[in-house]
Amino acid sequence: MNPNKALWEKGDFGRIAETMRESGEALVATLGVTEGMDVLDLGCGDGTTAIPSAKLGADVVGVDIASNLVAAGNARAESLGLANCRFQEGDASDLNELEDDSFDLVVSIFGAMFAPKPFDVAREMVRVTRPGGRIVMGNWIPNDPTLVAQILKVSAAYSPPPPEGFVSPMTWGVEENVVERFTAAGVPAEDISCERDSYTFAFASTPSEFVAAFRTYYGPTMNAFDAAAADGREAELQSELEALFEAQNTSPSPDSTSISATFLRVTVAV
Ligand SMILES: C[S@@+](CC[C@H](N)C(=O)[O-])C[C@H]1O[C@@H](n2cnc3c(N)ncnc32)[C@H](O)[C@@H]1O
Repeated sequence: MNPNKALWEKGDFGRIAETMRESGEALVATLGVTEGMDVLDLGCGDGTTAIPSAKLGADVVGVDIASNLVAAGNARAESLGLANCRFQEGDASDLNELEDDSFDLVVSIFGAMFAPKPFDVAREMVRVTRPGGRIVMGNWIPNDPTLVAQILKVSAAYSPPPPEGFVSPMTWGVEENVVERFTAAGVPAEDISCERDSYTFAFASTPSEFVAAFRTYYGPTMNAFDAAAADGREAELQSELEALFEAQNTSPSPDSTSISATFLRVTVAV
C-alpha cells in the first residue's frame, strides 16, 4: 500500500478538520471565488475549503488521496445539497485524471504539501490551471513555533527516520523551495508570492482532550504514538504534546481550546 495514502487513511482526519472550519471559510472568502468559477481543491480532506468555495457558487472538484475523506466530502456536499461540488480520489503528484487548463483556481491548504515528489506536484498544479488562473497553497513552516509545525517536529522525534530520499513536506514552507519548484514548472519567479498567514483551531473541550483527538484520529500523531509505544515512551510524548497544546491555547474558557497557527500562503499567477 502507498505509505502516503495509508498515513492519511489512518484514523479520521475529518475529526481534526471539524476544528478548522471557521478558518477554512475565512480563507476562502479572501480568494475572490465567483459563481461558475472552476475550482480544484487539492488534498481537500473532507472539504474544509472545497465546501465554502461551492457555497459561493463555484464548480468545485476536490481531489484527495484518502478514500475515506473523499467519501466524507461527498457525503457533506450531498447533505448540504451542493450539486456543484464533487470529491474524487487522486494523487497530487500525478493528476492524470484531470485535463490540462481545467481550473481557474487551484487551492491546496495543507494538502499537496504532503504529497511526495514536490517538483511533480508543482508541475501538475500548473498544468491543470488555465492561463490567467491562480494557484493558492497553504503550507506549514518548518521550525515555526506555532502548533502544527511543533506537533510534526515532536512527532518526528519519536518516529523512526524516514526512508532515504524522502523529501519532508515541511520544505514547502520555505519560500526558496516554493520558487524553485514553480519556476521549474515554467512560472516566472515574479508571478510567485509568499506571505505569512494564520489558521485557528477551535476545539470544544480542553487542550488535553484536543491532544487525545490528535492521538486517536490524526495519522502522523497516531504513527508517532505507535513508534513511542515500541520504545516505552508513550507517556513522554503525551506530556510533551499536552504541554505544547496548553502553552498555545488562548481560549479564555476552561472548556474550549483555541490555537492559532502560522502558515506560508503561496499565490502563483499562471
Ligand atoms: C492536513 S490534511 C488537510 C486537508 C484539507 N485541505 C483541510 O484543510 O482540511 C492533508 C490532506 O492531504 C491529503 N493528501 C496527502 N497526500 C496527498 C497526495 N499525494 N495527493 C492528494 N492528497 C493528499 C490527505 O489525505 C489529507 O486529506
